[in-house]
Amino acid sequence: MTGERSLPGAVPAEDEAPPILQIDGLTKRFAGGALALDNVSLQIRPGEIFALLGPNGAGKTTLIGAVCGLVRPTSGRIQAFGQDARRHWRAMRGRIGLVPQELGFDIFDTVWRQVRYSRGLFGRSPAADLLEEVLRSLSLWDKRDAQIRTLSGGMKRRVLIAKALAHEPDILFLDEPTAGVDVELRRDMWRQIAGLKARGVTIILTTHYLEEAEEMADRIGIMHRGRLLLVDDKRSMMKRLGRTEARFTLIRPLGAVPEPLADLPVELVDGGRVLLYRGGDGAGRGREHVAVLAQRLAEMGERFTAIEQRESSLEDIFMQFVDAEGTRAC
Ligand SMILES: Nc1ncnc2c1ncn2[C@@H]1O[C@H](COP(=O)(O)OP(=O)(O)OP(=O)(O)O)[C@@H](O)[C@H]1O
Ligand SMILES: [Mg+2]
Repeated sequence: MTGERSLPGAVPAEDEAPPILQIDGLTKRFAGGALALDNVSLQIRPGEIFALLGPNGAGKTTLIGAVCGLVRPTSGRIQAFGQDARRHWRAMRGRIGLVPQELGFDIFDTVWRQVRYSRGLFGRSPAADLLEEVLRSLSLWDKRDAQIRTLSGGMKRRVLIAKALAHEPDILFLDEPTAGVDVELRRDMWRQIAGLKARGVTIILTTHYLEEAEEMADRIGIMHRGRLLLVDDKRSMMKRLGRTEARFTLIRPLGAVPEPLADLPVELVDGGRVLLYRGGDGAGRGREHVAVLAQRLAEMGERFTAIEQRESSLEDIFMQFVDAEGTRAC
């Protein structure tokens, strides 16, 4: 499997648009000694939604911080919009929006003033119409004169999104935008994010909700201990690493896997009462195998009461990678 992984920093094919963001060999060692980023290379395509996954402390926020100028890299290079970040810092930052992981603003200020202030920070002329549209799209218009301290946690998170959008960024980072947000609001945010993508905004988000990445992302990157372990299109990742698991509950327990089944990845568990299949390729091969197994069991006269079958989710794939990494590091 390792040999098949796509290289995170691979050069795009000739017909692909140049990356909107290019990160090469980015390393960050904090003063305390933590290696938060370990030689990370990544290219972000214009207009895509890229989900960065990884356990706590993987380095996701540090990576975003490095691109947004909040963290000074130890080494490596960042280019955005075809220009070197160090040399064209102000112009580049003016085209990037950040929804930070931590909620933080003047809670006594009103929604409207905060959003207007955010736009002003980037030297953009006031644009009341645009700010109204941003607030309306996030269902915040009615709350425009409310003090932020009076809003619920989920609404505060929307204000952070409004602030990040106030200067019309081309790239938007969302660092756990739906943490602590209820299911309804989360779905609402997914719609907002899809709407931004439709308007051409490139989106990089982090999340611990894997179904969020599964639902929204075009591509996914898995980070662990400062390293980017894998970058791939969501669909091809699921296809390549996906697995089928099927449990046949047998009426008569077996002592050993019967010869006619031995060419398939099966084992006996639960004292021989369950024939467990784990295999396939996420592209339907597993389901074919399960049908073959059912037929062969029937031909052998081995009856079963149930087949429980499930396809692996992104969550399984993620855990598979993080576990494998943990084992290697031990
Ligand atoms: N300012 C800092 N000083 C020292 N160490 C830091 C600092 N910020 C982050 N770290 C360390 O860097 C590593 C990566 O942290 P980071 O916040 O980037 O992880 P994360 O993937 O965003 O995690 P989470 O999912 O919890 O948000 C951690 O070991 C963290 O303790
Ligand atoms: Mg973080």
